[in-house]
Amino acid sequence: MTTLAFKALSVFGGVLGGAIDAVRTVTGHGKKAVDHAWQAPTPTDRRSPCPMINALANHGYLPRDGKNVSLADLITGFKDAINLAPDATLIVSLKALQASSTGSFLTIHLSDLAKHGVIEHDGSLSRHDIHSGDNHTFAPELWAITASQLNTETISIALSAQVRKNRLAAAQSSNPDFHMTSDDIRFSFIETASYQLVFGPGLDGEARTDWVKILFEQERLPFDEGFVRSEKPLGVLDLFAVQKKVEDASA
Ligand code: HEM
Repeated sequence: MTTLAFKALSVFGGVLGGAIDAVRTVTGHGKKAVDHAWQAPTPTDRRSPCPMINALANHGYLPRDGKNVSLADLITGFKDAINLAPDATLIVSLKALQASSTGSFLTIHLSDLAKHGVIEHDGSLSRHDIHSGDNHTFAPELWAITASQLNTETISIALSAQVRKNRLAAAQSSNPDFHMTSDDIRFSFIETASYQLVFGPGLDGEARTDWVKILFEQERLPFDEGFVRSEKPLGVLDLFAVQKKVEDASA
């Protein structure tokens, strides 16, 4: 994407975010007291391979049943929960909509996100590869291997790059069908960058290890452990700045 395209995305995201806010104000939706207490999903609720999306649904920032989730729901949910700016939510969500099975190109069931080759890829930190038959359920024994390497209070950029590299190497050696496209590799870097951005103090990593573990293991936002959403909106350029640092540290 060119700088101009990013500017266009930011402007589009800003306008869309503003329009959604206006509709929420007019309809009174924004003033509704929504319960954001964490609740485990019921057996019929849909969930995704993304720990953050699942956490947002478990807190009611996204529809708790995980069904017919709209682009507006994603933009509002991510903004309210972690102050992710619309441009950052859009860049992933527009891709995610390509996996939709809802019959509307503007909504997804969260389970649609497991469609291999849209965003879902091999070499995840906490999910098995599609080759195993389940590419979306949190796999505690797999995550334990990564988690055991996260043994400092905060996670440096170098450490997050290393654990990602280790996981990719392990997946590659154990899965005869292992395959990642250049897009898969890019998204995998973005995923590491995204937890660093949300749970770190700035753009230099150092995400709180306990918060990251809570996200993966409980699909919960670590409010009780002191997490507060960023005061400043976290935009796509912030995300890409951290992504570049993770990539550089992986070279
Ligand atoms: C700042 C916000 C977000 C954070 C912190 C986040 C975090 C993560 C992390 C850490 C993973 C990797 C899981 C693993 O390797 O086991 C992941 C995977 C994924 N995320 Fe997110 N995510 C965010 C936003 C989104 C959005 C907006 C979407 C789409 C609407 C999305 C869709 C996915 C999908 C489909 C995967 C599966 C990729 C795979 O591992 O195969 N994420 N996310």
